Amino acid sequence: MSSFSLRPLTSTIGAEIDGLDIASPLSSEDRQEVLDALVAHHVLFFREQDITPEQQVAFAKQFGPISFPPFAPKYGTNPEYIVLDQENPKGEGADAWHSDNSFMSEPPMGSVLRAVLIPEVGGDTCFASTVAAYDALSPSIQRLVDGLKAIHDITKPLLKGIAAGHTTVNLEDVQAQWPPVAHPIVRTHPVTGKKSLYVNRNSTTHIEGLSERENEMLLPFLMDHIRSPEFQCRFKWDTNSVAFWDNRSAQHFAVSDYHSRRIMNRVTIAGEKVL
Ligand code: SIN
Repeated sequence: MSSFSLRPLTSTIGAEIDGLDIASPLSSEDRQEVLDALVAHHVLFFREQDITPEQQVAFAKQFGPISFPPFAPKYGTNPEYIVLDQENPKGEGADAWHSDNSFMSEPPMGSVLRAVLIPEVGGDTCFASTVAAYDALSPSIQRLVDGLKAIHDITKPLLKGIAAGHTTVNLEDVQAQWPPVAHPIVRTHPVTGKKSLYVNRNSTTHIEGLSERENEMLLPFLMDHIRSPEFQCRFKWDTNSVAFWDNRSAQHFAVSDYHSRRIMNRVTIAGEKVL
């Protein structure tokens, strides 16, 4: 018998969890049920979690080791969590559909994001199920993309971070540390075995082995397909709301429609090779 309740937001993605205090260590039953809910709904939302950054890190660590940021943002002091502090978010990177850090050879399993300061209006985050996106492709297109690989590169998100003044790292140093990687376009979830689309606007540069013309046709189509409203849910934050998403089966998009300060703390959980 669950100690918390769960309310799906849509039939495809997203569920709000009620009655679970994530400030303290979870019982092994609750931890397993949260994990089961995460892989089933791709993103979970918890409200009224007035937790410290250390408690947020401790919550995330119950699901795996922390993935340290590939380039240091200029805010915050603990590398286990990233402070996202934005006032003019347009074009700064999070307002493009993406899964976190796909330019890593072992991209994160998930992220835990907490709202610290929220604009009076705006600043929602949208999430899309990349499993639903794959399932909705016709069998012919599924056959076409199954087995293809795409290249993911840190350069674009890094340039955006530098241009917006969110990091002061040296472009060439970080590029050398994180060279481009190839991942399958269709990845298989390590827990559910479900297939999902794994290309994103922030970091995917091209599909391996295709001509430029073929890339121009196929890659934008796949990226646009992921944006269909029927694969999505949209979350309206309150201060102390928390989202926990599965980076292996969901993408997200931070809506850049606000002009006052918005502060979020993100803790990222390490993942595995994309298969
Ligand atoms: C992110 O892209 O990880 C942050 C999303 C958000 O700020 O809503």
